[in-house]
Amino acid sequence: MANQVKTIAVLTSGGDAPGMNAAIRAVVRTAIAKGLKVKGIDRGYMGLLNEEIRDMVARDVSDIIQKGGTILGTARCPEFAELEVQKRGAEICRKHGIDGLVVIGGDGSYRGAQALARQGINAIGIPGTIDLDIACTDYTIGFDTAVNTAMEAIDKVRDTSSSHERCSVIEVMGRHAGYIALWCGVANGAEDILLPERYNYDEQALINNIIEKRKMGKKHHIIINAEGIGHSNSMARRIEAATGVETRATILGHMQRGGSPTCKDRYYASIMGAYAVDLLIEGKTKRVVAYKNGEFVDYDIEEALAMKKDIDEYHFDISKLLSK
Ligand code: ADP
Ligand code: F6P
Repeated sequence: MANQVKTIAVLTSGGDAPGMNAAIRAVVRTAIAKGLKVKGIDRGYMGLLNEEIRDMVARDVSDIIQKGGTILGTARCPEFAELEVQKRGAEICRKHGIDGLVVIGGDGSYRGAQALARQGINAIGIPGTIDLDIACTDYTIGFDTAVNTAMEAIDKVRDTSSSHERCSVIEVMGRHAGYIALWCGVANGAEDILLPERYNYDEQALINNIIEKRKMGKKHHIIINAEGIGHSNSMARRIEAATGVETRATILGHMQRGGSPTCKDRYYASIMGAYAVDLLIEGKTKRVVAYKNGEFVDYDIEEALAMKKDIDEYHFDISKLLSK
């Protein structure tokens, strides 16, 4: 069915992620190429409520595909969880003639999009988060860049850790999701990986493992600790006291969220941005774009948010086996 969409808007929300700019560029240029007007909303849902809404043309997204962060800015806007605020957001969309809204963000941002969809605004989600923790998709914009950034940093720590025959506790991002920790754990050959999904880890077992690996002749002991477990400095002190092995903590922090996106993040973000606009043009309502089993697909936003995702136990087991 041909639809009546004339004007769409795009916003980025939640934690920024490398590749968001490539997605914004794709949304803006696809919309313009297909005869739509496109507006940019600055600072996520906060900017929507403050009506920070501007027309965008193709040149507004020049020279951004290679840049980290998001040119639209992002914000956390906790009040958007309130029904009255969501109604106001929907009213503002209508006032500005917005027939379709593309939301680039994580799980939380999807809930905002779902809320707007329930208020009659056709919101389409694009997965943008370094955490890879959106259940309906095997890929989220920014994960590839972030995990490669973390991997390279961990390689560097490992060099000095081996030279000094130390144990290193390296904290990576992921308050609720351990995908960066797991992928780095495998890719960096870590001896131990601590995931927020497995919060009740056994510190004595960790200590025993360090002692055992020393006896096996290992010169370093890398523990990848996800932010959701945290407390890396105190953990390092306890490990050193219990094992006698010099231990240092390194917290990688927000450097993992910045930097120029990888080819994969630019490519997938570009396809997803264009795909979202095509969904609006086709008249599809309240969808999220996903990459599943090797294909770009879309799901109903309610269905997508009801899905569950967990760390693959087999992969986690392999990580332990390979660090023997
Ligand atoms: P991410 O999108 O990266 O998961 P957050 O969880 O911080 O990041 O969510 C980003 C924003 O999405 C929040 O600041 C809020 O504005 C909006 N949001 C989060 N949860 C909800 C909710 N339950 N209802 C409506 N909006 C929400
Ligand atoms: O965007 C996801 C994320 O980087 C998580 O990995 C992390 O827990 C959180 O955001 C940090 O948020 P903030 O930028 O508020 O410190």
